Amino acid sequence: MTDFKRTLITSALPYANGPVHIGHLAGVYVPADIYARYLRLKGEEVLFIGGSDEHGVPITLKARNEMITPQDVVDKYHALIKDSFARLGISFDVYSRTSAPIHYETASAFFMKLYREGKFVEKTSEQYYDEETHHFLADRYIVGTCPKCGFEKAYGDQCESCGTSLSPTELVNPRSVLSGNTPVLKETKHWYLPLDHYEPWLREWILEGHTEWKANVYGQCKSWIDSGLQPRAVTRDLDWGVPVPLEDAPGKVLYVWFDAPIGYISATRELTPEWEKWWKDRDTRMLHFIGKDNIVFHCIIFPAMLKAEGSYNLPDNVPANEFLNLEGDKISTSRNWAVWLHEYLERFPGKEDVLKYVLTANAPETKDNDFTWKDFQTRNNSELVAILGNFVNRALVLTEKYFRAEVPVAGELTVSDRQALEGVSALRGEIEKSLDNFRFREALKNAMDIARLGNKYLADEEPWKVVKTDQERVKTILNVSLQITANLTIALEPFLPFSMEKLRGFLNIRGFGWNELGRTNLLSAGHRLNPSALLFEKIEDHQIEREIKKLLDVKKANEATMAGLSPAKDPVNIDQFGAMDIRTGTVIAAEKVAKTQKLLKLTIDTGIDTRTVVSGIAEHYTPEEMTGKQVCILVNLEPRPLKGIESRGMILCAQDPSGKLVLVSPESLVKNGSEVK
Ligand code: 2FM
Ligand code: ZN
Repeated sequence: MTDFKRTLITSALPYANGPVHIGHLAGVYVPADIYARYLRLKGEEVLFIGGSDEHGVPITLKARNEMITPQDVVDKYHALIKDSFARLGISFDVYSRTSAPIHYETASAFFMKLYREGKFVEKTSEQYYDEETHHFLADRYIVGTCPKCGFEKAYGDQCESCGTSLSPTELVNPRSVLSGNTPVLKETKHWYLPLDHYEPWLREWILEGHTEWKANVYGQCKSWIDSGLQPRAVTRDLDWGVPVPLEDAPGKVLYVWFDAPIGYISATRELTPEWEKWWKDRDTRMLHFIGKDNIVFHCIIFPAMLKAEGSYNLPDNVPANEFLNLEGDKISTSRNWAVWLHEYLERFPGKEDVLKYVLTANAPETKDNDFTWKDFQTRNNSELVAILGNFVNRALVLTEKYFRAEVPVAGELTVSDRQALEGVSALRGEIEKSLDNFRFREALKNAMDIARLGNKYLADEEPWKVVKTDQERVKTILNVSLQITANLTIALEPFLPFSMEKLRGFLNIRGFGWNELGRTNLLSAGHRLNPSALLFEKIEDHQIEREIKKLLDVKKANEATMAGLSPAKDPVNIDQFGAMDIRTGTVIAAEKVAKTQKLLKLTIDTGIDTRTVVSGIAEHYTPEEMTGKQVCILVNLEPRPLKGIESRGMILCAQDPSGKLVLVSPESLVKNGSEVK
């Protein structure tokens, strides 16, 4: 490792169009947090950067669907994400957002510098345009059939079925998401970063200069570079994003993947006036924590941008992870197949560290991995409770019991005492080696080995038996056990910060620095402990079954959607339901509405009056079939004119996915005017 004075840790900025889930945590935020905490514990100068990525087409599409503004979307999710990260204990030094004014300023200035220095290529090309809505159809504004796999809902930038990166013109049968129409091609001008110019440099910098990068990262870079890099547009025709700061670019914004990584710089500027030290001083090392889908952006495109700008540092390493699956299936936001962080925090209060532990123990570092609730339970019960909790609890409780909660004096150490204590020092070396190489699951296992070693030591020494014959020996055994416990508060601090704070409370100690890990006299004889409690609680079967049931419901809802049924609507309260006045009524006359296919004019005796209702059921019921039927009718629907007839109310029907309508009627005759509720 090269020499450096400080470390800038960036973590991928999550899109503020939905909450974060365990896949994001396992891939990015948990390892980045462990690393930041580790460096801080070592006394190193470190900054840990986070923030929300608030641009991009999915955000504008969501806003459109929900009939709110993109700013409303990002305000909602930025607040939710920031809050849930804080509750999980992700220790960002700053959590910023790319809709912040400082980001607009930073991203615009970055673009302008490259523009002025002639680092972009200007190109006019034909792009799809929706003539009805007057929009160029960037990225996800266009769907069509994937040319590779035939999937009919592939996006203009990617097919989510086979994963292929696409450009809109590759789609077969393209359609505008806005109008459903077939778009036309229209000329538009954009600015491109000529990645092809940077190819020789990237080859040298990564393929020759960074052979130490993780195999998955290096491999992806090599395959991108070997397949030939193309100029990449850094602007888009959209109305949401950082406006292109040029006179001749109305209606154009910076491409989200151009502005988002600059967000790391803006966040640093927001945090400290000394931001340049973190970005431009060659003694600073920069690390990007990301998921594998972000590799090309952080290893090729952003470095090429930084290189073009000229004054910034390049990343020293990009320890990207693979993906985490959930119960054997790919995590999917659109299918709601995820464990959402904010929901976890509500459902498992006080178990923030447990989630971090499980996600680290099973981190997708070298291959995709699977999260299952059963494994979550087992790791909690058989590792956190049975290994770590059990060891520290025995050390603490036996000290309370035999020595009135005072650390006893150690006598002469036996071989076994020394072996145990030396084992802790040896494990420190292992943990460091693993952490320094971004192998977090191995590091966690090594740290847990200290607790395993402690358990074995207690099982071998059996102080609960020895106490009957040799009090002095028990003093030594418990002194050694408590020193091991104190060491655990250091070794596990980066992984389980809340639990280690609790344990320090039981031990009545301050936080030690990493360099004190391995010391055999962290606690002096006579030091008083505080009353203790269990460090971890068992997770019961019913808690896990509740989560599995929730996922089964999601699966069922997805199957229903696939079968054409729409998902459940947002909840209403009883008052909202009660505001609808639904009554029983009998159709006393029915006729077709002239010059329409679908409409019947019904005269209905509602018990409270006789009224006219125009209903779209003519393709399903004839006037003769309708006459005499008892139906349910919403009587307080605002009257509205339909084909010149005032319709007062609506009759209730069930509609199956094929569109067939069937009347909803009382199961047996009831008095007209009866309330349906
Ligand atoms: O993939 C994502 O979720 C992106 N929002 C990550 C952006 S990382 C950085 F460049 F901001
Ligand atoms: Zn495909």
